[in-house]
Amino acid sequence: MRIILCDKPEDVASYGARLMSQQIKNKPDSVLGLATGSTPIKMYQHVIEQVKKGDLSLAACRSFNLDEYIGLTPDHSQSYRYFMQQNFFNQVDIAVENTFVPDGFADDIEASCVDYESKIQQSGGIDWQLLGIGVNGHIGFNEPGSSLRSRTRVKTLSSQTIEDNARFFSADEFQPQLAITVGIETIMQARDIVLLATGSAKAAAVKATAEGPVSASCPASILQFHPNVKLIVDAEAGQDLEHKQFYLRIEEETQKLMRY
Ligand code: F6R
Repeated sequence: MRIILCDKPEDVASYGARLMSQQIKNKPDSVLGLATGSTPIKMYQHVIEQVKKGDLSLAACRSFNLDEYIGLTPDHSQSYRYFMQQNFFNQVDIAVENTFVPDGFADDIEASCVDYESKIQQSGGIDWQLLGIGVNGHIGFNEPGSSLRSRTRVKTLSSQTIEDNARFFSADEFQPQLAITVGIETIMQARDIVLLATGSAKAAAVKATAEGPVSASCPASILQFHPNVKLIVDAEAGQDLEHKQFYLRIEEETQKLMRY
């Protein structure tokens, strides 16, 4: 795992965007694994700017999102499909039929999970996977205790996650307690993984991910076994890391990329 230390959330966003655009330039028909949540919004904005300037095109890309709430229609303002349309897809040149988000409103949810997993496999697997991390160490909605060999399936959200995400729902609004998520094994099969973490609420999860034992108690810790992971943190999210002297600061990482 390559840990990259930034000062500000803005640096996490711009570096994440740089990695995403580099991936797409190197392989224009990339299969992208995408995340929702507050962390990647700024990163998506940087990518959108590049597309609008004509410096980048996602016309040949396909994308698979990590997760979706069960019980929300795709046009519900809290659904992850809606989030992706608003924050990314509508503003770039990816074809909507090449964007996949699990269907949380399918008649047969179990069958739709199997179908989603096989679509990922049929596409050749994820080339570049973007991840955020939950306060409890979840990736996608693979909550603590998730099988480290799991595939796309239904998960019950932990009370921590429901509490953390309550900020997006109004008091009288239905907040789902179940979600579809791609599995940990599905994520581990991605060829490259970029995990973004910002803010002090993520500090304990970041430490457990990078320096803790590999354990289902912190699902993100499995990433220690992946050969190509970049964990990009701001000063607050990285504040509990003990071995900072071994990790690269963003400036060093950027210079190194320019050297090779
Ligand atoms: C979202 C997802 C989640 C989030 C995580 C962090 O698609 O898979 O794992 O990445 O809950 O969310 P934020 O960025 O809102 O703190």
